[in-house]
Amino acid sequence: MTKQITICVFGDIVGKIGRKALTKQLPIIKNKFKPDLTIANVENLAHGRGITEKSLLEISDAGIEAFTSGHHVWENKMGAPLLNSPKWSARLIRPMNVDPKLPGKGWVKLSIKNQNIYLLNLQGQLYMPQNGSSPFLTFDRFWQEQQPNPDKDILIIDLHAETTSEKMAFANYVDGKATLVFGTHTHVPTADPKILPGGTANITDVGMVGSYDSVIGFEKNSSIKRFLNITAAPYKLQEKGLTEINGLIITVNLDSHKVTVLKQIREIVDI
Ligand SMILES: [Fe+2]
Ligand SMILES: [Fe+2]
Repeated sequence: MTKQITICVFGDIVGKIGRKALTKQLPIIKNKFKPDLTIANVENLAHGRGITEKSLLEISDAGIEAFTSGHHVWENKMGAPLLNSPKWSARLIRPMNVDPKLPGKGWVKLSIKNQNIYLLNLQGQLYMPQNGSSPFLTFDRFWQEQQPNPDKDILIIDLHAETTSEKMAFANYVDGKATLVFGTHTHVPTADPKILPGGTANITDVGMVGSYDSVIGFEKNSSIKRFLNITAAPYKLQEKGLTEINGLIITVNLDSHKVTVLKQIREIVDI
């Protein structure tokens, strides 16, 4: 029997409605694709801003096994220390290329079916709130220091970035080294899952798990007010309604180390 590993990733989970949608739909998705590892981006997990232990437990119980994030992850001051906690830090990461004084680490090494899986989190530099160091050069440093073997190890990168150009340039920069580069942060899925010439699977943005009738997961009128310069208007989140679940499935053949399945997930459920 061919040895293979199937990995399922989801983009930014936005608030309670996103957590509820995932809890409802993940058993069905898992039953269909039988992933060996399920990853999600949690920067907006707790009411759109950062993480809490309760919200992490909720999606961990639902079946998410590893957690990437982005610039919002430190915004919940109660939750930020979880990035350094023994309980979570083996499977919860934040971008590597930020101020090293911020809690957390930028990559972890997982072992699934005796297979090494490096999971990395990087952040873009263009139009991002915290302008960290270059994700390109940070990746190079990681590659030199850790020396993963692209013929044996699986390397998955969440590139948390705003612009499609930076994300596509980065994916091509690491083509042949990474197994999968998936973009997060814009909350809008791009229709471009592809395998690059060197074998790296890529999607520019995997999209969010959050409210469907919204502006990137937030209640739309609260968002529109901010564009009308009513800057004091707080972001609001809807508690119920249609919710979109955006993700990606890849299967890696462990003999050839090639990605054999690359499939986008987009489901809309009523919460
Ligand atoms: Fe986000
Ligand atoms: Fe973000």
